[in-house]
Amino acid sequence: MSCTARDRGYRGHQALAGCLWCRTPSVVAWRALSDQAVLAAAPPRTHTSSIRIGLSRGKRPLPISQPRKQSMGIDRKVAIVTGASRGIGAGLVKGFLEHNYRVVANARAIDPRASPDVLAVAGDVADPNTAERVVGGALERFGRIDILVNNAGIFRSKPFVDYSQADFDTMMGVNVAGFFHLSQRAIKPMVQRGSGHIVTITTSLVDQPLLAVPSALAALSKGGLNAVTRSLAIECAGTGIRVNAVSAGIIKTPMHPAETHAFFAKLHPMRRMGTVEEVVEAVLYLDAAQFVTGEILHVDGGQHAGHS
Ligand SMILES: NC(=O)c1ccc[n+]([C@@H]2O[C@H](COP(=O)([O-])OP(=O)(O)OC[C@H]3O[C@@H](n4cnc5c(N)ncnc54)[C@H](OP(=O)(O)O)[C@@H]3O)[C@@H](O)[C@H]2O)c1
Repeated sequence: MSCTARDRGYRGHQALAGCLWCRTPSVVAWRALSDQAVLAAAPPRTHTSSIRIGLSRGKRPLPISQPRKQSMGIDRKVAIVTGASRGIGAGLVKGFLEHNYRVVANARAIDPRASPDVLAVAGDVADPNTAERVVGGALERFGRIDILVNNAGIFRSKPFVDYSQADFDTMMGVNVAGFFHLSQRAIKPMVQRGSGHIVTITTSLVDQPLLAVPSALAALSKGGLNAVTRSLAIECAGTGIRVNAVSAGIIKTPMHPAETHAFFAKLHPMRRMGTVEEVVEAVLYLDAAQFVTGEILHVDGGQHAGHS
């Protein structure tokens, strides 16, 4: 029998000692040949962008396989970002747009955007009607939802006994009910498409409470979000939907006035506050990391690990 690998000029013919295929034109040989044909037929990869993240320092950048200059059609990914008017949420909108996503941006007060790539939906996430309008608007305008970032959140630090009923209602409404209403409505069309991703922004105060920052209601609400992230990741694992969280340290956003920054910096083993860009980078990483689900990714300068 002649060697099909050699006859077709397959370069592996020379590389393999004694050429396995001369002796055994096996399934492996045929697979290698067909792989080669597929590779030859594939268009060159010109549209893959990559960003460098901390884990890859000094090595090849890890690819974040979001297309930068794809066609303008419905193949472009769609992200929903709640709490998108400032801070981390505004950074997420910018990051997603830079990676060629289209974005549905929500906050109670949000600029109506002129961009064809952004749909702004004003409303309180604690209200189920807002979730209806956000998810409905995403499907109507863009036809799909690839990622929902549950970012809208409230933080109030007080001794436990000083929290009012209004504090409790507001924090549970935005942090917990907001997650529930948006995630439930976004997951349904994701199940139909067989893919999707939910990312929630939580806090490392859940893992390492600090005496200097009493935060029982953050623990109650964001701790629940960490727990439901793992729970939903398992529930959704067979559907193509991934569920992750980014647990942030104290991040420089309008949530914290400049005069508090020096104090907050010292609460991190790395002796600095985090930046919005570092949280955005983590969300983009998670969206590209197709084998990662149920992960609580800490972006906190070591805060969750312990104290310096
Ligand atoms: N900054 C930090 O140190 C830190 C640390 C850990 C975790 N986080 C979490 O990260 C997320 C973003 O924090 P951030 O620092 O960027 O906050 P921020 O600067 O205070 O911005 C909060 C955003 O959420 C929106 N928002 C507030 N209440 C809302 C509601 N009921 N419905 C819809 N949108 C609402 C705000 O816009 P409107 O006021 O117009 O609604 C704003 O766009 C939050 O979940 C927070 O808990 C932050």
